[in-house]
Amino acid sequence: MVISREWHLLARPRGWPKPEDFALVERDVPDPGDGEILVRNHYMSVDPYMRGRMNAQRTYAAPYEIGKAMYGEAVGEVVASRSDRIAQGAFVRTMAGWREAAVCRADTAEVIDPELAPLPAHLGVLGMPGWTAYVGLYDIGQPEPGETVFVSAASGAVGSIVGQLAKTHGCRVVGSVGSAAKVRYITEELGFDAGCDYHDVDLTEWLGEAAPDGVDIYFENVGGDHLQAALNAMNSFGRIVACGMISGYNEPRPGPSNLHSIVAKRLRVQGFIVRDHADRKPAFLEHVGGMLRAGKIRHTETVVDGIDNAVQALLQLLEGGHHTGKMVVSL
Ligand SMILES: NC(=O)c1ccc[n+]([C@@H]2O[C@H](COP(=O)([O-])OP(=O)(O)OC[C@H]3O[C@@H](n4cnc5c(N)ncnc54)[C@H](OP(=O)(O)O)[C@@H]3O)[C@@H](O)[C@H]2O)c1
Repeated sequence: MVISREWHLLARPRGWPKPEDFALVERDVPDPGDGEILVRNHYMSVDPYMRGRMNAQRTYAAPYEIGKAMYGEAVGEVVASRSDRIAQGAFVRTMAGWREAAVCRADTAEVIDPELAPLPAHLGVLGMPGWTAYVGLYDIGQPEPGETVFVSAASGAVGSIVGQLAKTHGCRVVGSVGSAAKVRYITEELGFDAGCDYHDVDLTEWLGEAAPDGVDIYFENVGGDHLQAALNAMNSFGRIVACGMISGYNEPRPGPSNLHSIVAKRLRVQGFIVRDHADRKPAFLEHVGGMLRAGKIRHTETVVDGIDNAVQALLQLLEGGHHTGKMVVSL
């Protein structure tokens, strides 16, 4: 019998989640049954969508249940297997995050290659955020070489990959981030053409300088003032890739006052959820995995140590200013 700690949701947060909304609970993990594997998690992901699952309303996914363990992406080692599909010793990605160990159906686990990249990268550039960047930019944004792409939350898990993919596609890429150090990161290390700390600028004025020919694609991760400024800067027939609007996940934000430009500029604004695009996962893994093997894409993971700190890590992710690239928790 394996003992595992797991995070339960105790109460649905109103506004910003508080530590007392959660409890770390110890439980016995049973032996795997037929077709199942026992996984010892090495890293779990914290992601913005997890905040939405704490609310009672069903959106595109069911809410977390009160008094039960939360879940999300995790990578770990198979320590026992009763599946002929996945052997003991393999490394897998599952949805059994927020806990140290779990029994999973083997047909819900994805075998990953730890030689291709360190385990945390399989939650970032090679995981759901990288897949989101790929689908959002290519399928929803449909960039053309020479176009200008504006990315918000540009140093984060999704934004950092969007910017690099757009650069390899021949686009001009500009991004907004929350500190001067992150501006240096996206411009000097990731190759963005320009970056700003959104705390220090008027975003509309800054876009006028950083994107003198206007913005053709806005990759929207933030909402609020960022969407307002992007609408001001968009070219006619531009595309807004509505990936997320993190600034409003904990407290309501006023909507932009310039939505009429969608009509005047004949913009296409399209939301998407990456899980609807499972058919694109093989192409994503081939494309981004190939770039990784060729050393043509950079990735950073911010690792928070220990399951005890997992809730704090999620709160820091939502707040911003605490991480670069993909935030994960080592277990
Ligand atoms: N549609 C989908 O299928 C899908 C899938 C994955 C993610 N997403 C969305 O993609 C976005 C990015 O997710 P991620 O996993 O890559 O997270 P991330 O960018 O690694 O982390 C979130 C970042 O958002 C920024 N932020 C938070 N509050 C902000 C505010 N009020 N104003 C400006 N920036 C703020 C912070 O960056 P700074 O430190 O620079 O301020 C923070 O680090 C989120 O909106 C998420 O919901 C959507």
